[in-house]
Amino acid sequence: MRVETLTGAALSEALDDIARLRMAVFRDWPYLYEGTMENEHRYLQAYQVSERAIALAVYDGDWLVGASTGAPLSEHAEDFGEAFEGTPFDVEKIFYCGESVLLPRYRGQGIGHQFFEAREDYARGLGFEKICFSSVVRPPDHPLKPSDYRALDPFWKKRGYDRLPGVVAQFTWKDVDQVSETAKPLQMWMRDL
Ligand SMILES: CC(C)(COP(=O)(O)OP(=O)(O)OC[C@H]1O[C@@H](n2cnc3c(N)ncnc32)[C@H](O)[C@@H]1OP(=O)(O)O)[C@@H](O)C(=O)NCCC(=O)NCCS
Repeated sequence: MRVETLTGAALSEALDDIARLRMAVFRDWPYLYEGTMENEHRYLQAYQVSERAIALAVYDGDWLVGASTGAPLSEHAEDFGEAFEGTPFDVEKIFYCGESVLLPRYRGQGIGHQFFEAREDYARGLGFEKICFSSVVRPPDHPLKPSDYRALDPFWKKRGYDRLPGVVAQFTWKDVDQVSETAKPLQMWMRDL
């Protein structure tokens, strides 16, 4: 396994592979995302146009087995701007961490820590003051919740992130067990850099 840092053209070239990986990993709980390449292109476009976007790409040989992205929050304004409206935070000073996805057999070896460390260092280097990410909120009694699911909240808290009360974005996608798209709340988490 090797982890590469991608920006600019190299990031753009990896976006289709990242999209396929997102669709594979996010089918599982708690995302239950039935993605299409069309949706993915729309979502990932922010990374293509942002000169300050970053992706960490994990390869096993030539295969992309993990990825993690980040970009200035202001460049995700369409997706998250509303959630921050009315808060005292200056979105220009916040870096947004997109997904972290790793195929199950590669988990538990510290890659998740590397994903955060690399994006935090990168954002600090660009002069950002805060860093955030969002996480889907599901009802605790959801029928598709695996009984042995271990939430990532303790990991995020240990890394210094806290939920931002009331800062919740709405995203719409089709769940694997639904016939049409439904809106999902995405809770924002943040820490100082
Ligand atoms: C998030 C993800 C990339 C983390 O990758 P990872 O390489 O396994 O993470 P690490 O090995 O660095 O471990 C990170 C922490 O998770 C904990 N952890 C390990 N296996 C876990 C599991 N099966 N479930 C929950 N937490 C687990 C570890 O205890 C570790 O915490 P600690 O070392 O601080 O005590 C990976 O779990 C994943 O792809 N999950 C599915 C997608 C997802 O939910 N992404 C997050 C939102 S975008």
